[in-house]
Amino acid sequence: MKRYMAGMPAEVEPLVDALQRPLRDLRLSVTDRCNFRCRYCMPREQFEKQFKFLPRSDLLTFEEIVRLVDLLVPLGLDKIRLTGGEPLLRESLPALVAMTRERFAGVMALTTNGTRLQQLAAPLKSAGLDRVTVSLDAMDEPTFAQLTDSDTSVQEVLRGIDAAAQAGLAPIKVNCVVQRGVNEHAILQLARHFRSSGHTLRFIEYMDVGMTNGWSMQHVVSAAEILERLQAEFPLEPVSPGYRGEVASRYRYTDGTGEVGIIASVTQPFCRDCTRLRISADGRAFTCLYAGTGIDLRDALRSQDSVEVLAARVRALWAARRDRYSEERNERRYLPRVEMSYIGG
Ligand code: GTP
Ligand code: 5AD
Ligand code: SF4
Ligand code: SF4
Repeated sequence: MKRYMAGMPAEVEPLVDALQRPLRDLRLSVTDRCNFRCRYCMPREQFEKQFKFLPRSDLLTFEEIVRLVDLLVPLGLDKIRLTGGEPLLRESLPALVAMTRERFAGVMALTTNGTRLQQLAAPLKSAGLDRVTVSLDAMDEPTFAQLTDSDTSVQEVLRGIDAAAQAGLAPIKVNCVVQRGVNEHAILQLARHFRSSGHTLRFIEYMDVGMTNGWSMQHVVSAAEILERLQAEFPLEPVSPGYRGEVASRYRYTDGTGEVGIIASVTQPFCRDCTRLRISADGRAFTCLYAGTGIDLRDALRSQDSVEVLAARVRALWAARRDRYSEERNERRYLPRVEMSYIGG
């Protein structure tokens, strides 16, 4: 795939980190706010009125974001994923997509809770977005309401998914985080609903990201158990990964009704192939979902520093990267970790 466009600087020497992992995947958080309060991500008692969300002046502007994209693209990016919080709460997001599209020919995707997709799917597609991933943790309204701690209904999210499909934001992926005793029953309900829909449902092991969700291993339903539950109703066979480092293990329904994925971030960590750089909405770079701190790039983006100076800073950051938290969980479990709502999924 062509990774940068005519007129961009020539690709420089491939950049790899200290564990020989290239930088392929940029995750850009565009806001730390969300209209949901999923208990595993932004529990209301921690993210209520007194919580200090980023003031607008701290957010990278669209111009600053594309400056950053300009310096990262020649380092080998294949994919840019917009995240949040909830990215569709960021004003004029289609304009950012259009500005990014002008300088990046790779895959542009977005992870959303789906509530604003009905209005935004078509403008996002026109602006150049390729595809969306929608979070949906239950099919029944009471469980969904309890999980998201919001007034939004499952039906609204399903309408958002339909709007995305109609706009051509495919392949659509639907992500469900499975928590023991909370939404285990959603596994089969979601599978029944999305089989034959053309969308790919993926189940995610509940992770210990951030410091606020009260995670414990007892709340995790392992990938092996999720697969077992699915196979009790649907014959499945494994499918080879779509690309090196794909986080989901893929399975195909043997009757040809589509695919399902399982993301085993806890029981089968995939750090060895992790090519993701995360940027928070205020311009901090994180080399791991579980990092305690990020490196500020905003000051440099706002200063007169040249693209070369900034690029050198990012190259040095990536070259020194040794993160492999999920593989070292037991030793690192008690170190401070950034919140997922701040750096995206
Ligand atoms: P596509 O292949 O483009 O669909 O992207 P993806 O498979 O990377 O999926 P997505 O970005 O939707 O990630 C799905 C989920 O996997 C996230 O919400 C996280 O829960 C988990 N995940 C993704 N990347 C990482 C990672 O780097 N580390 C860990 N521990 N979990 C991750
Ligand atoms: N464990 C696993 N996945 C999580 N996400 C958010 N918090 C967690 C967690 N603790 C996922 C959501 C969504 C994406 C933004 O991140 O399901 O798909
Ligand atoms: Fe919002 Fe997504 Fe976090 Fe839920 S998981 S609170 S929808 S950012
Ligand atoms: Fe990558 Fe860190 Fe996740 Fe491992 S724990 S896959 S290094 S983000």
